[in-house]
Parts: sequence; structure tokens; C-alpha cells
Amino acid sequence: MKQQPLVGIVMGSDSDWPLLRAAAVVFKDFGVAYEARVLSAHRTPDAALEYAASAAGRGLKLLIGAAGGAAHLAGVLAAKTELPVLGVPMPSKHLQGLDSLLSMVQMPAGIPVATFAVGEAGATNAALFAVATLALGDAALAKKLAAFRERQAEKVLAKNITDLP
Ligand code: RP5
Repeated sequence: MKQQPLVGIVMGSDSDWPLLRAAAVVFKDFGVAYEARVLSAHRTPDAALEYAASAAGRGLKLLIGAAGGAAHLAGVLAAKTELPVLGVPMPSKHLQGLDSLLSMVQMPAGIPVATFAVGEAGATNAALFAVATLALGDAALAKKLAAFRERQAEKVLAKNITDLP
């Protein structure tokens, strides 16, 4: 039976997916059910608002909003839901994502968007943050997260570079 999605990954364009799919990879690895949708704050504003407004009622616990340029998608989603919204700024053609980062991170007080790094690292970390949040109420998931962190640390410690190139 298909699991009920706990996280909604929303992106402003399918052109964001090649980087944003890093978030989906994390959810697959941890066995966290997610759904991924393309919804734009400016091209499909009504659908974006409706998605956010109905998210909690459909059982979602967190939303990830990713967009590039004048990146208002995560803020628009946050305006219509009390669920935590994690923002991932996407790299943009002319300003390399600095525009996306500042648009997303500079939310005025009252409606928060937890903003992550630009691009793939941000997508991975937003998903790991979602996993950590869900793990607060899920001991099995908390165990998986601890094991992941341990494996990651072991990989770093195994890198013993003695001969400089
Ligand atoms: C934003 O505009 C999207 O999130 C994307 O990062 C950017 C460019 O979109 P496309 O022109 O590639 O559809 O809304």
C-alpha cells in the first residue's frame, strides 16, 4: 500500500528538479514518503495557494519550497499554511542564486521560511532537516538518522591523505 506523503516538495519549475531531486534521494534513503509538485508563485498562483492551504489537511507535516530568481514561492506557501516551510534557493542564470537566496531568506517578521543553502546542498540539507524534525516523533527514523551521521563521520575520518599531489 502506498504510504501517505509526509513532506511536500514544491518547485517553481521543472528546471529546478535536477538539483532538487537531491531532496527526494534523501527521503527515499530514509523511507520517508514525499510528493513532488511543480507549482509557481507567479505562473500558477491560485494552484500554489490551494496546495499550501490544503497541505496540513492532507497529512503533510512539512513543505519544501524551491525556486530561483525572484524566489517568492516558499513565502507564498508559508502564507497559506502553518506547517514548517523549508526554502531552497535555486541557482539563477544571471545572479547565480544570490537573488533567490536573498528573496527567500529576507522574509519579514511573522511568516517564517527556514532557508537553506543555494542549490543541491540546500536541497539535501532541507530534506535532512525534515527527517530530523519527523524523527522527533519517530524512534525508528531517529535511529536511521543517527546511523547516517555515524557513517558520514566514518567516511571523513577514513580520508587519510599522506601524499600531497
Ligand atoms: C523560477 O524561475 C523557477 O523556480 C526557476 O528556478 C526559475 C526559472 O524557471 P524556468 O524559466 O526554467 O521555468 O520560478
